[in-house]
Amino acid sequence: MELKEKIEEIKQEVETFSAKSVDEVEAFRIKYLGSKNKIKDLYAELKTVPNELKKEFGQLINGLKNQTQEKFDGFKDSIQGNDSKSNQKSIDLTRPAEQIALGSRHPLAVVKNEIIEIFKRIGFVVSEGPEVEDDWHNFSALNFPPEHPARDMQDTFFIETSDDGDRSKEMALRTHTSSVQVRVMENSEPPIRTISPGRVYRNEAISARAHCFFHQVEGLYIDTDVSFADLKQTLLYFAQEMFGEKAKIRLRPSYFPFTEPSAEVDVSCTICNAKGCNVCKYTGWLEILGCGMVDPNVLEAANIDSKKFSGFAFGMGIERIAQLKYRVGDLRLYSENDIRFLNQFKSAH
Ligand code: PHE
Repeated sequence: MELKEKIEEIKQEVETFSAKSVDEVEAFRIKYLGSKNKIKDLYAELKTVPNELKKEFGQLINGLKNQTQEKFDGFKDSIQGNDSKSNQKSIDLTRPAEQIALGSRHPLAVVKNEIIEIFKRIGFVVSEGPEVEDDWHNFSALNFPPEHPARDMQDTFFIETSDDGDRSKEMALRTHTSSVQVRVMENSEPPIRTISPGRVYRNEAISARAHCFFHQVEGLYIDTDVSFADLKQTLLYFAQEMFGEKAKIRLRPSYFPFTEPSAEVDVSCTICNAKGCNVCKYTGWLEILGCGMVDPNVLEAANIDSKKFSGFAFGMGIERIAQLKYRVGDLRLYSENDIRFLNQFKSAH
């Protein structure tokens, strides 16, 4: 066979070669690149070529040699970690780590944590309780009369546990986290200073302004000589920490079964600086929470001596505070998991 044909033949072999294992690649290396390889034989044969053709043939063989080396290098890279026999994976420890997209906290979690931090600074501890509650902790211990409308099917999601019609045995999804405070009062002695963050449920049609679940932080302080002035000062401190030191509060008389007297609290509108805008409906005030002095009946129900101790309680919706902080008007956004909404809170801690 002519040398030219031999070169061509080896070139074909090299080009069509494929390998599935390290062994096959090694066999390739020995055959074409090892100490006694086929390409070396070609160089030996160069001697027999007429002088004027030596240069051309030499270049052909050099090209083949380089091509073979490149092919081998390529195999070496791709076969590593793919060897069917040993199945060993090789890890490149020098490779930079893949970028991991950072998540962000949910805006409600950001606001909840901020509320917790504010009350922690004045000695409140966090308490938590079950979302599926009994009638006692959600209603009866909180001085709700048996026929109080808040117990009605329209407000409360009841969970059927027995069909004998006995309401005291019924379980429900808690309608507020005041239920947690009953548990704290039952299980500890005053002084009590606690806040209860958590999810609550009410049987409402879902719209921009109402949802069947939302989140609250409720607070309770019980000690000797707790007064309404303590309550007001605590809430003013909260409003100024949360909305800035210029924030003012105003209390309007209200009613809750578990507090007497009771009040609803407004904060001066943070959006228009109390000048009047469509968020505060041109009143300059925004309602943010309910509060009052703990009704003596509630203390007694939890075996706390109402002659010796008094206390205040308050409760706020986290969505409402978040709405004022981030100007998110539509409640549904908080639970729809739209990444375009959630991504906007990336920098919040
Ligand atoms: N539990 C009340 C609610 O869910 C809020 C509240 C708590 C009001 C404590 C007064 C005192 O609306």
